[in-house]
Amino acid sequence: AGLKVFPDSAKGISDKLIGIFFEDINYGADGGLYAELVQNRDFEYNQADRKNWTHSYAWTVSDGSDGVLEIDTVMPLHANNRHYAVLRGNAVKNNGYDGIPVKKGAKYRFSLYGRAPEGNVQLEVSLVGGNGLVVASEKIKVSSKNWKKVTATLMPSADADSAELFITPAAGRTLHVDMVSLFPHATFKGRENGLRADLAEILAGLKPKFVRFPGGCVAHGNGVDNIYDWKGSIGELYERKPLSNLWGYHQTRGLGYHEYFLFCEDLGAEPLPVLAAGVPCQNSSVPSAHSHNLVTTNGQQCGVPMEQMPQYIQDVLDLIEYANGDARTSRWGRVRAKAGHPEPFNMKYIGIGNEDLISPAFVERFTMICNAVSEKYPDIKIVGTSGPFYEGSDYTYGWQLADSMHIPLVDEHYYVAPGWMVNNQDFYDNYDRDKPHVYLGEYAAHLPGRQSNVETALTEALYLLSVERNADVVEMTSYAPLLAKEGHTQWRPDLIYFNNTKVKPTVDYYVQKLFGNNSGEVYIASKLSAGNLPATAMKRQGASVVFNKETDTYIVKIANLLPVATSLALDLGNIPVNLSEAEVTVLSGNPSDTGVSPQTKVVGIADGNVELLPYSFTVIRLKKLY
Ligand code: AHR
Repeated sequence: AGLKVFPDSAKGISDKLIGIFFEDINYGADGGLYAELVQNRDFEYNQADRKNWTHSYAWTVSDGSDGVLEIDTVMPLHANNRHYAVLRGNAVKNNGYDGIPVKKGAKYRFSLYGRAPEGNVQLEVSLVGGNGLVVASEKIKVSSKNWKKVTATLMPSADADSAELFITPAAGRTLHVDMVSLFPHATFKGRENGLRADLAEILAGLKPKFVRFPGGCVAHGNGVDNIYDWKGSIGELYERKPLSNLWGYHQTRGLGYHEYFLFCEDLGAEPLPVLAAGVPCQNSSVPSAHSHNLVTTNGQQCGVPMEQMPQYIQDVLDLIEYANGDARTSRWGRVRAKAGHPEPFNMKYIGIGNEDLISPAFVERFTMICNAVSEKYPDIKIVGTSGPFYEGSDYTYGWQLADSMHIPLVDEHYYVAPGWMVNNQDFYDNYDRDKPHVYLGEYAAHLPGRQSNVETALTEALYLLSVERNADVVEMTSYAPLLAKEGHTQWRPDLIYFNNTKVKPTVDYYVQKLFGNNSGEVYIASKLSAGNLPATAMKRQGASVVFNKETDTYIVKIANLLPVATSLALDLGNIPVNLSEAEVTVLSGNPSDTGVSPQTKVVGIADGNVELLPYSFTVIRLKKLY
């Protein structure tokens, strides 16, 4: 078998091909990437989040009385955050998200907003490990009758994977508390309201070129009232508007738009926020008070009422100002500066809509929003949506609409069987390069039972090779979903599983990582020949050759989904490369394996022969010679 490269047949391709799509699904944000350790810190959990949840969820009165935590709303900390706890000398505890994991010697930033209506209250804040051992304890005082933030630093004397946080006021004194928070100092890049370092690091390892956020379905929400309003997710933490999450839990939105922009900046990735096109998720279960205003294809949809659309559109435009506006002259630029970021975030993309049915209600609102954005900000690249991808869906209407409106990019989603990926490697070959380009915003190979393993990972690798070949029309891709907390998973498979102390990347993660770390801006044509293999077997091998300008490296990627090893003769034509020091990375295993990761070594391949393992993905990096 051989791989013949045609150096004279090269084309420019997207330098943003591999990104990430972060959605708060599977406890991806609260209890996940967002490093807050106290669950229901704002006492705003309620039945809209989940049927049996109350404002005291995750909290217990711990004086042995088994009493219910008293909640009040008479003197709220903020109108967006009306509920707070009333402690009448009784201790309370919070068990975090499946317990609070703490490390010996690490520092934790504790804070709460308190008011002492009857005068000073001393209180003790402590972390207690699973065996009842107090691992950290500090005393603080609430002395104001008005809400005031008090802080303490806790430094545990021992590790505890599942501690509880106790707040014990002096006996007989009444104390009101809200926004009870515990954060590790060691967040990603040390940011105060930051991200869990190990999870953020594993995402950074993908070298994503962009981050799409905050959804997915979360972006357009369960009914109009649940649309993710970006303005409710910024500002002081206590003034953010909590929002129920349509995946069945609560969003504090402590990880809000400002933090998403910061995360992009820390990753060196382009932000790609997605806003609802004035219509909620096509699968919304909540009938809207406004539904009589709508004409839709399925008769169930609802959208932002027409009389509210001017404000809705203004909110979209304000987001662009928040991201890019001058801190001195723009109102929303000033708000960003006040949040600690005077420099613009330099946002270049905005997504409008997510996998929506291309209904009349959608088309009307989408058109209004996109026209307003392009008129005021012609340099911002709008990412539209193709609509749901299934046999008989409105899928092609989404493309036609985007084409007629000259939308530069269209987001399409497909979760498919591995065989689909093997058989559709020509999917993008005939996409019209003069029409809107593609953002493959959500995809994954799904096996029955929806597990991911070497088989799904390798079929995704094979398919991505064909996407890379078409990366003159496919500009961006992101696997979905990204994160899933064990025991809190609404969707499978996911790219990275985790619990409170461990991060567990899947084999599919390593495929993403290999593509993200081995991207190029120039695609060089090549042809695989497989000796006497039948055509069906040929479909199970694929290759791609790119040149990466930054590292001055030619990168050859080869997927072999055959159960046999192959010796591959590399014919690079006249490309000048150092064959005596090739960096070869191989990901391989049995199709049903789940626990494999790639291995890298530097080898000489002067004879041009590369051994491909059965069921493998091989990446060869070759330095350009001068
Ligand atoms: O990725 C999971 C969900 O799949 C997303 O929220 C939605 O866009 C799609 O239907």
